[in-house]
Amino acid sequence: MDIEFVAAGAAVPAKTAVARIVFEGAAYDGALAQAVAASRFTGGKGQTLDILAPQGESAARLVLVGAGKQDAFDALAAEQAAATGYAAVKTSGLATLRIEHAGGLDIATHAALGVRLGSYRFDRYRTTEKADRKPSITKTQIVAPDVDAALDAFAPMSAVADGVSFTRDLVSEPPNVLYPAEFAARVKNLEAMGLEVEILGETEMMKLGMGALLAVGQGSIRESQLAVIKWYGAADRTAQPIAFVGKGVCFDTGGISIKPAENMDDMKWDMGGAGTVAGLMHALAGRKAKVNAIGILGLVENMPDANAYRPGDVLTSMSGQTIEVINTDAEGRLVLADALWYCQDRFKPKFMVDLATLTGAVIIALGNDYAGCYANNEELAANLLAAAKAEDEGLWRMPLPEAYNKQIDSMIADMKNTGGRPGGSITAALFLQKYVGSTPWAHLDIAGTAWRKPSSVATIPDGAVGFGVRLLNRMVADKYEG
Ligand code: BES
Ligand code: MN
Ligand code: ZN
Repeated sequence: MDIEFVAAGAAVPAKTAVARIVFEGAAYDGALAQAVAASRFTGGKGQTLDILAPQGESAARLVLVGAGKQDAFDALAAEQAAATGYAAVKTSGLATLRIEHAGGLDIATHAALGVRLGSYRFDRYRTTEKADRKPSITKTQIVAPDVDAALDAFAPMSAVADGVSFTRDLVSEPPNVLYPAEFAARVKNLEAMGLEVEILGETEMMKLGMGALLAVGQGSIRESQLAVIKWYGAADRTAQPIAFVGKGVCFDTGGISIKPAENMDDMKWDMGGAGTVAGLMHALAGRKAKVNAIGILGLVENMPDANAYRPGDVLTSMSGQTIEVINTDAEGRLVLADALWYCQDRFKPKFMVDLATLTGAVIIALGNDYAGCYANNEELAANLLAAAKAEDEGLWRMPLPEAYNKQIDSMIADMKNTGGRPGGSITAALFLQKYVGSTPWAHLDIAGTAWRKPSSVATIPDGAVGFGVRLLNRMVADKYEG
């Protein structure tokens, strides 16, 4: 999608749809008043009224987009309104969309962001789609009070949108295409943006003693990988970095503790945490963030196989702690155990945030609008929650009760990899906590938020969300740069 900012009075090109953001109680005259009177349109949030060849307007088509009450309208509401306007005309056959609004710079740039995010589409594998079903809008003009200022302000936001798109692409790819080495290769390509990327294979991980991560990938013919992405944007390259760690299970069959067939295809999304970390690093590099940041992705495939790990196996993690495997479908925590330990051991970061589609239990607890946030550090938790609020990504603090650790006590090893059904997301987080040492750490369980099928949010198309890229980027920008 091409984005352009234009002055309010700029001539409307031919074949343009105008989306006009309006509020409840607005007054209309002439043909518009007639059209509104003939409909149920009140200007309420999410409403649209599509008017073809409107009299007295230069647009080929005019969509009124309701934005609710004017005094509650803000930048986040502008994103949704603009994306709703886009959705209303995307397959209209018209090539250009113009977003009209009465707001300032912030409203203009966020409207642009909303269209960027809402117009994302993954269509690599469609070969027979009829032309009249494809989106026709290729360019969006957004009215702005000061065109140059809008362009400047939008540049870093556009970098974040690129990061979100990168995550969505990775998450949308099918598991036969995006296996660990392919994921690693796509991340390696980010070196063109100024990131440094190291890829560790099974031999290197064996030397490091990553017995937990390697066990998960043991049943797959695809080689497990650990991707280490480094962004040195701080004035001092040696300044202590911040770090992000992602669960990258490119496909999760459950392994020997195999999952039921229904919806198993969803488990191509089980690399969503790694996808978000990769998209975040893309965003930080794209906007040249003034921070040193490390992204670590644990990339594996969890398969049943003659060589697969078994329930009952005892694994030795890189930390030296041993784990009795109760269920091979609780594999994400095994991958993260070694990735987190490696991260704090090698980089001594200010903090680590891990993201993982870790448990079905967090979906039971919080549904699909909130990710679970666990933290051993109050400041980090507060920063994450504030950033999530500012970016409209749902995040809810969850507890790490010491007493629940007894659910993962093992009779023969240091811990078990599952703690039973009660508090399943919590015991998974408590497991991870054993691998972070004294480093400030937070864990975001994004099993419910990594994808939406279908989506009812205008800025999120059906499928991969790219959850977390925005909130983490915001937290970095507000708290850890400069
Ligand atoms: N990848 C799944 C979690 C998941 C489930 C994500 C549904 C998204 C939707 C994870 O590896 C898993 O299988 N977890 C098990 C853990 C259990 C065996 C302790 C679960 O949640 O059932
Ligand atoms: Mn699993
Ligand atoms: Zn999994």
